[in-house]
Amino acid sequence: MTKTISVNQAEFAVTDEGAGEAICFLHGFPLNRSMWQAQVDAFATSHRVIVPDLRGHGQSTVTQGTVTMRQMADDVVALLDALQITQPITLCGLSMGGYVAWELWRSHPDRLARLILCDTRAVADTEEVSRGRHMMAAQVVVNGSSMAADSMPSKLFAPDAESTQPEKLERVRQMILATDPEGIAATQRGMADRIDMTPQLPEITTKSLVICGTHDVISSPEEMRSFANAMPNATFVEIPKAGHLAPLECPDPTNAAIRQFLATS
Ligand code: MLT
Repeated sequence: MTKTISVNQAEFAVTDEGAGEAICFLHGFPLNRSMWQAQVDAFATSHRVIVPDLRGHGQSTVTQGTVTMRQMADDVVALLDALQITQPITLCGLSMGGYVAWELWRSHPDRLARLILCDTRAVADTEEVSRGRHMMAAQVVVNGSSMAADSMPSKLFAPDAESTQPEKLERVRQMILATDPEGIAATQRGMADRIDMTPQLPEITTKSLVICGTHDVISSPEEMRSFANAMPNATFVEIPKAGHLAPLECPDPTNAAIRQFLATS
């Protein structure tokens, strides 16, 4: 069921399905909660599955200016409170959702039973990447979301996806097109401000699963394996046919890895 929840001076659309221990999925940029449909279907039979549209995305409120990863993490905590989820949860974030998960670990480690980091990075932006984000933020409010919708999808998928899964590329293009340009801009500025998590990785004792698509060109398997190695309780899994959107491109092996992690940790 979709719930509309008001917290932190904003309204959030949240999928809340199933019962039992909670698992919460945080989408990537500039997508929305529908990217996790295969995980909702797979895990709502055994868990309470919570999937919000993060601030500025999907059907949630758009905030202008800069929306930091910390703000998004505070939103997620407020949503869990509103849903009366007090037991520690499994938190699964993809890319930007992973940046939010790091912040949630920093501010509320007690709320986390497990962490799943999909196709994400621990390092902060280089100056060049950060400049590029600010430039994109300025352009998207003038030119609209189609600018991102036309340029991004091919970089998010494995190289053969255009011929093997064209409908998923189109689905992602439509998700980006539906994202408010001000939401895209505010999130780009927030991601540019995020901190380098590398020094804190050895302190993350939470049981963790690190998942990466073999063809991910944004957060490469080498980079993700290396940060997983720096985390004391992390297991690294590669999804052979996927790019940057492993849970959406290859839901079966991704869900199998998550299911095994949930059963054994
Ligand atoms: C994402 O998929 O969320 C983005 O690649 C994150 C980013 O731009 O760093």
